[in-house]
Amino acid sequence: MTTAMCPGSFDPPTNGHVDIIGRCAQRFERVVVAVVSNPGKSPLFSLEERISLLGDSLTEHDNIELVSFSGLLVEIAAERGVDIVIKGLRAGSDFDYELQMAQMNAHVGTMETLFMPTSPRWGFVSSSLVKEVARLGGSVVDLVPPAVASALEEKLA
Ligand code: PNS
Repeated sequence: MTTAMCPGSFDPPTNGHVDIIGRCAQRFERVVVAVVSNPGKSPLFSLEERISLLGDSLTEHDNIELVSFSGLLVEIAAERGVDIVIKGLRAGSDFDYELQMAQMNAHVGTMETLFMPTSPRWGFVSSSLVKEVARLGGSVVDLVPPAVASALEEKLA
């Protein structure tokens, strides 16, 4: 059985995240979605809210596990029996940062990272931009799962 891990802040989950995780769920027997508990910037959504929103957005698949972590990615990956970390790439600008993290993860552990291109329709979508547009009163209903759109509306009301 091959287990893939999709790590991230998911503050909040977007359609881009759901697309990458869903494509992993179709290709790997088991997918661990690892939600970092303490992302660099103070998150809009709590850890519990981010996990709950992911759960509501990933109901199509029964081979996905949601976990939280606060230490090194390689540690949670080893604990959960992960074979490979998958990172979505939207554009070349993502690549530089992701390459550095992949090489660091290979250095501090033995974790292999594979990059998966984001579907073109979600290539411009990021959690930060979604929050910015929502905060300024724009519509994000086409960019995030329905549960996230409702949660944003409630949170920013
Ligand atoms: O969604 P994000 O914010 O791009 O996710 C970033 C994340 C959680 C994948 C990254 O910050 C991470 O791997 N954090 C764990 C800390 C770690 O292992 N750092 C050292 C290796 S880069």
